[in-house]
Amino acid sequence: MEKLLVVGGRPLEGKIVIGGAKNAALPAMAAALLTDEPVILENVPRVRDISTLRLLLEELGVDSSFQHNAKGNRLTIQARKLRQPRAPYELVKTMRASVLVLGPLVARFRRAEVSLPGGCAIGERPINLHLKGLRKLGATTRIVHGYVEARAKRLKGARFRFDRISVTGTANLLMAAALADGETLLENAACEPEITDLAELLTKMGARISGAGTETLRIKGVSRLRGARHRIIPDRIEAGTYLAAAGITRGHLILQRCRPDHMRAVIEKFREMGLEIKIRGRTSLEVKGPRRLQASDLTTREYPGFATDMQAQYMALATQADGTSVITETIFEKRFMHALEMLRMGADVTLEGRSAIVRGPTPLSGAKVLASDLRASASLVLAGLAAQGETLIDRVYHIDRGYDRIEEKLSQVGAKIRRVSTSPA
Ligand code: EPU
Repeated sequence: MEKLLVVGGRPLEGKIVIGGAKNAALPAMAAALLTDEPVILENVPRVRDISTLRLLLEELGVDSSFQHNAKGNRLTIQARKLRQPRAPYELVKTMRASVLVLGPLVARFRRAEVSLPGGCAIGERPINLHLKGLRKLGATTRIVHGYVEARAKRLKGARFRFDRISVTGTANLLMAAALADGETLLENAACEPEITDLAELLTKMGARISGAGTETLRIKGVSRLRGARHRIIPDRIEAGTYLAAAGITRGHLILQRCRPDHMRAVIEKFREMGLEIKIRGRTSLEVKGPRRLQASDLTTREYPGFATDMQAQYMALATQADGTSVITETIFEKRFMHALEMLRMGADVTLEGRSAIVRGPTPLSGAKVLASDLRASASLVLAGLAAQGETLIDRVYHIDRGYDRIEEKLSQVGAKIRRVSTSPA
């Protein structure tokens, strides 16, 4: 079993290069199912969720190859034909984003069987809106033995309004509508940069999409899509996590190859807490942690609001800030497992429904802690960087799902962090 061992108390200093966005690369990979020509994706992060989706594509009968060089990582995917249209439980249970193959499979191959994801550490993750939307486009869906079976003749364009905003739901329907017959209008759609990036890729593939980045997407279906080459946007959550690392260690970091324009809400919030953040051109940020952090309330929102995927990292900072911060989670209302681990490190956090009340600053002391999900594990790394003594983070496979070599990147800027292998308890 691998764990991360962090010894706290060192300010971070230096440069970190930000990788490609996992949550943009995953839908882009699924989009490759829409054509028999190769789709070449650049700046794909080397994280486990990407390998999991590659495995799933392989199961479906799709070819892919990964190349890593000095300029970054390139993934080529070609879905010439399909061996079978089934996304098995064993893969879907490890990564909910597997559901992204549903829309493309139905649109191009007229059939999909995707395991229902089931429960998850961050709360309910239903896919009812994905299914409702696909039915609106003419598919039939039924649940059999834990799988969603969707079938359609050629999908037909339609108007669909999401009851609530869903990122992968929007991605799924956007991909499905690209090959549908006629025009689709998606209302109350997600505006996340990862959706805009997907729309850009689909457009290169020949799709006709307008309104990307707004809450209404208009898609004029085409009968065939072609291959394309596309560079995945930088990971705004990885970059935000390293901003928090500078803040919590009173360090000084320069983040390269990021997109500050995708990070406005995080930058604004961290500035309120006292972090000094300079935007250096289109792709770089400089951040200095203050001597004293200031408490500030936070509510997570869909983009352009403050991302739920940064909430846990924000909580780590709040434990070190002067005053009380009320953190309200509106996207995944039970996403507070990290709070319970931070308590074990000496934080003062009270949970009340969908809010966490954090009183700071409290000195943190290193402890053995358990990562419950990807972002929770990142927040425990941050807490460990600020804590006195050693923090040992168990279930580190969660962090590997979405952070490319986090211990290497942090070590390079002065953190004392390493991966350790222990025999199973
Ligand atoms: N929802 C429904 N029905 C649906 C779909 C969603 O009720 O059919 C609800 C969810 O339960 C949740 C809310 O709508 O309360 C938003 O969920 P959304 O569908 O937007 O989440 P997602 O698409 O499953 C993506 C990211 C998550 C990120 C959320 C919110 C990917 C692969 N995943 O998930 O990323 O937290 O959007 O921004 O893009 C992560 O990277 O750690 C991660 C969890």
